[in-house]
Amino acid sequence: MEKLFLSTLNGQPGKRKPVWLMRQAGRYLPEYRALRSQAKNFLDLCLTPQLASAITLQPIERYHFDAAIMFADILLIPYALGQDLTFHEGEGPRLPGLESAAALAKLSYAPERLAPVGETLQRVRERLPDDVALIGFCGAPWTVACYMIDGSSHTGFSHTLRWANSLKYDLNKLIQIIVEASESYLCKQIEAGAEALQIFDSWAGLLEGEMFAQAVIEPTKELVRRVKARHPHIPIIGFPRQASLTDYAAYARETGVDAVSLDQSVPLVYARDKLQTMKPVQGNLSPDLLVRGGAPMREALDVLYKTLGPEHIINLGHGVLPATPPEHVAELVDWVRGNEAAGTRK
Ligand code: CP3
Repeated sequence: MEKLFLSTLNGQPGKRKPVWLMRQAGRYLPEYRALRSQAKNFLDLCLTPQLASAITLQPIERYHFDAAIMFADILLIPYALGQDLTFHEGEGPRLPGLESAAALAKLSYAPERLAPVGETLQRVRERLPDDVALIGFCGAPWTVACYMIDGSSHTGFSHTLRWANSLKYDLNKLIQIIVEASESYLCKQIEAGAEALQIFDSWAGLLEGEMFAQAVIEPTKELVRRVKARHPHIPIIGFPRQASLTDYAAYARETGVDAVSLDQSVPLVYARDKLQTMKPVQGNLSPDLLVRGGAPMREALDVLYKTLGPEHIINLGHGVLPATPPEHVAELVDWVRGNEAAGTRK
C-alpha cells in the first residue's frame, strides 16, 4: 500500500497532507505514563523493546497518524560511546560532560549497547498498519556534542560554545566521532525496518553564519552522504531548530536532506518562497496552540494550509508538550483528515 507520508516526502503529494507529531509518544498520554512507571528509569524504557515498541504504537492506535516515530532518545549515542546517561524526574537528562579533549580518547562506540533499538523497530514493523510509515532518528552531531560536552542544557551550553570558539580542532574531532557512530546507528535502524529518518538539531540556533556552516551544515552533510551511500532511497528529514532564516535556506540547499522541518518561528511566506521551492517542508504549528486547541488552533491550521503548498507534512514546530490535552490531538488529526480537498490547494 502507498504510504502518504513517504510519497509526500518523495515530492509526490497524495490526497491530503500527512500528519504526525514530534514527541507524539510521551507524557501527555495516560497510557504512556502507565508503561513508563513499569520501567526502572527512562534509559531502561528506551532499551526494553517490548515497552519501547508498545509506546511507539500507542499514538498510532489512538490517532492513526501517518507515521510512527520509534521510541528512543537522541542521547543513546553518548550512552553507546561510553558516557553515563541518567534522567532525573522533572530535570531531564544528564551526562557527565567532557572536561577537555583528553576525554575524547576514552570514547568508543559500542553498537551492541543499542541493539535493543533494532529489536524495537522490528517489533513495531510487525504490528504497524500498512498505511503508516516508520521513522527512525538520531540527534545531529552538533546537538549531540552540546549534551556530551556540557552534560545538560542547564549551562546554556556555554562550554560547548567555548569549544566552538576556541577549540575548533577538538570540537571537530568529537563531531567526527559522533558522525561515525550515527552513521552506523542510522543504517542499523534502516536494516531493522525504519523507512525514513529524521535528524534532530535542537540547538542549531546557537550558531550562525560561518560557525553554523562548520558545525551544523558540514557534519550533517557528511552524515547524510554516508547514510545515502548505503541506503540511497531512504528519505531523510533535517530539523535545524531555531536557525536564522538564511541558515535555514543554506541548510536546505547544502546538507542533502530530502525535507526540512520548520520550527514555529519560521514565517510561512519565507517557508513557501525560499524553502518549499527546494524541498518538501514539515511543521510548524506551535506546540502551545495544541495545548489551547479549539478555534485558535484551527485558525492557525487554516493559515498553514492556505500558505504552504501540498509538499508539506503537518507537524509541530517542536515536540508535544506534556500539558497537551489528548483530545486536542484528536481534534488536530480530525481537522487534517477533513481537509482532503484543501490538502492539494496551493
Ligand atoms: O518523538 C517521539 O515521540 C519519539 C521519542 C523521542 C524522545 N526524545 C522521547 C523522550 C525523540 C525523537 C526524542 C528526541 C530528543 N531527545 C531531542 C530532540 C528533539 C527535541 O525535543 O528538541 C532531545 C533534545 C532529546 C533529549 C531529551 N530527552 C531531553 C532534553 C529530555 C527532557 C525534556 C523532557 O521533555 O522531559 C528528554 C526526555 C524524553 N525523551 C522524554 C521522552 C518521552 C520524557 C521522559 C519522561 O518520560 O520523563
